[in-house]
Amino acid sequence: VPAERKGLFGAVPLAHRFLRERLRPGDRAVDATCGNGHDTLLLGELVGPEGRVWGFDLQEKALAATSELLREKGLADRVALVHAGHERLAEFVTEPLRAAVFNLGYLPGGETSFVTRPETTLTAFDAVLPLLLPGGIVIVVLYTGHSGGPEEEAAVTSRAAGLDPLKFNVWSCRQGNRSAAAPYLLLVEKI
Ligand SMILES: C[S@@+](CC[C@H](N)C(=O)[O-])C[C@H]1O[C@@H](n2cnc3c(N)ncnc32)[C@H](O)[C@@H]1O
Repeated sequence: VPAERKGLFGAVPLAHRFLRERLRPGDRAVDATCGNGHDTLLLGELVGPEGRVWGFDLQEKALAATSELLREKGLADRVALVHAGHERLAEFVTEPLRAAVFNLGYLPGGETSFVTRPETTLTAFDAVLPLLLPGGIVIVVLYTGHSGGPEEEAAVTSRAAGLDPLKFNVWSCRQGNRSAAAPYLLLVEKI
């Protein structure tokens, strides 16, 4: 399958479709794992000049790449890049959010020591839920193919499964014709 067609149906493009559907100018949003900044960039575009985005990453290199991308596109002003673990999210973000995105695992070709971990991912996930506006969404891109991935997936999906169905919709979006190790999305929507 040509790369451009494969990409249309991957977990990240699907996450972007949900974000496009939900985010409006003036909204607030969080990218919990900036990496190379592709998700941060989309959030910045969607919230517009009156909106605000907070982007977290532990790696200086990742934040530098994200910052450069945002600067190139003229969106740096509306994005606060935070050089800290997303487990500290509550210290930096207190405003109501329309969306948060977690792209878990590690940067392809990057430092595997900067992999996301179940405890810190759950702390951030728990911190973001009370900030969600009605109709607000959290998207988690889950990877099970690396060491520690299945444990992190189990931690996140089990936390999400315990959310009150009167307060949250929880969807799991995975490709039915791929291996169990293919990345997939968990979508949590505040009712
Ligand atoms: C899969 S990459 C994210 C890809 C990114 N969204 C993109 O579009 O390029 C995961 C990122 O999470 C970061 N990370 C790992 N643990 C973290 C933590 N506790 N808090 C914030 N970022 C973390 C890594 O440094 C890495 O850049």
